[in-house]
Amino acid sequence: MASFTDLQLEQLEPGIWCCTIDRPKALNALNGTVLSSLLEAFAWLQQQDDVRAVLLTGAGEKAFVAGADIAAMQTMTPLQAREFSQLGMQVMATIEQFPVPVIALVNGYCLGGGCELALSCDFILASDTASFGQPEVALGIPPGFGGTQRLARIVGKNHALSMILTGERINAAEALRIQLCNQVTEPSQLLELGLSYGRKIAANSPTAVALAKELIHKGQNLDLQYGCQMETELFALSFSGADQTEGMTAFLKRRSATFSLS
Ligand code: HXC
Repeated sequence: MASFTDLQLEQLEPGIWCCTIDRPKALNALNGTVLSSLLEAFAWLQQQDDVRAVLLTGAGEKAFVAGADIAAMQTMTPLQAREFSQLGMQVMATIEQFPVPVIALVNGYCLGGGCELALSCDFILASDTASFGQPEVALGIPPGFGGTQRLARIVGKNHALSMILTGERINAAEALRIQLCNQVTEPSQLLELGLSYGRKIAANSPTAVALAKELIHKGQNLDLQYGCQMETELFALSFSGADQTEGMTAFLKRRSATFSLS
């Protein structure tokens, strides 16, 4: 267990950690303090020996994250808004580039900067009470933590335009239909669903998982030819570590592979 301001980190099982944004009275809205805590928490996790999967969620039963903190933004100058956006962008990039999968457990409102935070995770699991939206235009601003870019890449330009320009919320079933989230379950089952994904990931080679995550995220911004070249290079690189030997030997000897973090 490690605590940061308005954020908790807890090891739930060997290799599986849960990061909880803990500002339930403000529906876990992201202010500068929470964003800095997220950066500190992921830097701290990177120093730990046994991190195979991270679940990211919001405290309380109502919200994952209801957005960037509107009270904190209300009087910002353009320069302060720029710095705030850059801080958020840094958090999203840190999660996206984190060498371990990060799974968003969306347990309620997932709006604005909260939706952008979930989009920076590797995938999204949602409770059937969750709702997603990018309501920024109603506040006189466009999204500022990467929503116009990541949402369009994940659900396609048409759904992104519809969500961002109307500002309307969509429910979990609709989020599943447009592939904004990967799976929906009852609120009481959400953590267990996250754990089940975490356990499957944790049983695999951490090196191979990290390489595959990197390839998929970087490949989104490359053409097919370069993406495939990069895949060849990282595929070859995987043969220089112990996991490839262990994984293939275990298969051929008909036993389970045991991968340790190097
Ligand atoms: C600050 C927030 C907040 C937010 C909720 N709260 N969302 N505070 N920033 N984004 C606070 C409320 O002020 C209130 O505080 C408490 O949380 C409970 O919220 P209520 O509104 O009373 O709850 P409810 O009526 O159930 O409505 C829930 C809600 C609504 C539909 C989620 O709170 C809402 O619309 N919130 C704003 C959603 C939004 O517009 N998000 C995008 C923000 S812009 P008190 O003290 O009164 O109890 C953004 C930009 C990102 O994210 C990019 C930045 C660079």
